Amino acid sequence: MTTSNTANELDRRLLMDRSVPGRTAVTLPPSDVPEQDMPQESLLRDDLPLPEVSQLEVIRYFSLLSQLNFSIDTNFYPLGSCTMKYNPKLNDAMASLPGFAGIHPNQPSDQVQGAVQLMHELQELLGDLTGLPGVSLAPLAGAQGEYAGLLIARAYHASRNDSARTVALIPDSAHGTNPASAAMAGLEVVTVPSASDGNVDVNALRDLADERTAVFMLTLPSTLGLFEPSILEITQIVHDAGGLVYADGANLNALLGIAKLGDLGFDICHSNLHKTFSTPHGGGGPGSGPVMVTDELAKFLPEPVATRNGDSYTLSEPESSIGKINGFHGSFGILVRAYTYIRAMGRDGLKSAAENAIINANYIQSQLKDSFDLAADRYCMHETVLSASRQKKRGVKGLDIAKRLLDHGIHAPTMYFPLIVDEALMVEPTETESKETLDHFIEVMRQIDDEITSDPETVQTAPHTLPVTRLDEAAAARKPYLRWQG
Ligand SMILES: Cc1ncc(COP(=O)(O)O)c(C=O)c1O
Repeated sequence: MTTSNTANELDRRLLMDRSVPGRTAVTLPPSDVPEQDMPQESLLRDDLPLPEVSQLEVIRYFSLLSQLNFSIDTNFYPLGSCTMKYNPKLNDAMASLPGFAGIHPNQPSDQVQGAVQLMHELQELLGDLTGLPGVSLAPLAGAQGEYAGLLIARAYHASRNDSARTVALIPDSAHGTNPASAAMAGLEVVTVPSASDGNVDVNALRDLADERTAVFMLTLPSTLGLFEPSILEITQIVHDAGGLVYADGANLNALLGIAKLGDLGFDICHSNLHKTFSTPHGGGGPGSGPVMVTDELAKFLPEPVATRNGDSYTLSEPESSIGKINGFHGSFGILVRAYTYIRAMGRDGLKSAAENAIINANYIQSQLKDSFDLAADRYCMHETVLSASRQKKRGVKGLDIAKRLLDHGIHAPTMYFPLIVDEALMVEPTETESKETLDHFIEVMRQIDDEITSDPETVQTAPHTLPVTRLDEAAAARKPYLRWQG
C-alpha cells in the first residue's frame, strides 16, 4: 500500500495513457513462416488502439498494479469465512513442475499416470480427513461443491423412489451460496432459525424435519465461528426423518485432525481447498470445492473420480453418477497445491494449524470484547464475529471501521455477514499470523474505537491513504469499466 500512496500522477497513469506513437517494447525477428491472407475486410475492426510503450514502461505499470493489490503476501488479511491464510510457496513450486503444468486435460490417463495418481491420493487424503470416503475433485468452487452435493442428495432419494423429498432445511446464519445452490438443485428452501446462543434451534429443526426433508445443510463450525454442541442430536433428528445431512465445509480448517464430519453424522460435505488447504483464491478464482460422501452415496459422485487398479490409475464415471459438472477434472493446479500442503504439513501439522487458528481467534476475541460486542459471548472456533452495534450508537458503522482499517494497512474483516448479526465484523486471523501481528490488529481496533469518540468524521470518511477512497460499490459491481475509456 505504501508504494501506491507515494505514487505520483505520472506513475499512476494507465498503460494506454503512457502510449507514445512509435515506441515499442520488443523488436520482433523477421517472420519465418509464410505470410497469411487477412480475413475479409468486413470481419476486421476499423482500428485497434494498442499502447505503444517501452519495455520499462510495461514493467513499471504491471509492478505498480501488483502493488495496488491488497494481498496476504503483503498485509494482514483477517477476512472471516474466507480463510486468507499464507499459501506456502512450495505449493506453487510443485504446481509449476512441467510434468503437472504442461499436461493437457484431454490427454488419456495412461499418458499422465502421475497426475491421476496425485488426484487419487488427494481423494484418499480428503476422504480420511473428513471421514467421508467417497470423493470427487471435480467441483470448481465451494458453491459448485454444494450444488454437486445437493444433486447427489436428490439422486439418492430418487433412487429410493422417494420423490416427496424436495425440501432443503438451511439455518438462517448460512452463507448465501447455500440457499442459492439448493434452489439451483431444484429444492425448496426452508429456513431453520438460530437460538439466542447462536446455535441451531434444535426444537425448531425437530418440528421442521419431516417426510419432505431431502437434506439439512449446516456449516460447521457455523458461520458465527461456533461449534454446534448438539451436532450429534441434530444429525440424528434429520436421519430419523429420512433426510441427509450436508456439511458446508468452508470452515473445515478449524476441524482438521480434531474431528471428522463423517463421525458426526454428516453424509455429504464439500471442502473449499482454496481456504482450508492454502491455495490461492484472490480475485474470484481459481477455486476448488471437492465433494465428499459416505460409501453408500459414492456411486452418485460427479465424474471423473480417480480410481486405482494395482499400479495403474484411471479417471472413471461412478455407477449412477450425477454426471459432469464442468469441462474437465476440476482445478488441477489447485489440486496439486492442496496435495502439497497436506503432505508437507502431515497429520500433526494440520491438527496444530487448526488448533492455532482457534487460539488466535480466541485471543483476538478476548482482547476486543471490552471494546466491541460479540455475536456470541463464548469460546469461538477459528473466527470471531464482532458487532459494531455499540459504535453505531456513536454514529459510525461497521463499514466505516472496515474502511479505516485499510488506512492502517490491514484488510477489512468480512462485513455484515452473517446477516443475523447487527453490524457484523467477522474476523478470521488464521493460524499463520504471529502474536505481534495479532497485537497490532488489536491495538488498531482499539485506536479506531477511541477515534470514534474523539474524531468520528475521520473514521466515517476513511480510507484516507489509498489511491481510491469510497467507491460506488453497486456501480463497481454492475457497471464495471473493464476497458480503457480514452
Ligand atoms: C460458509 C461458506 N460457504 C460457502 C462458500 C462458497 O464458497 P466459494 O466461494 O468457494 O464458492 C463460502 C465462501 O466464502 C463460505 O464462506
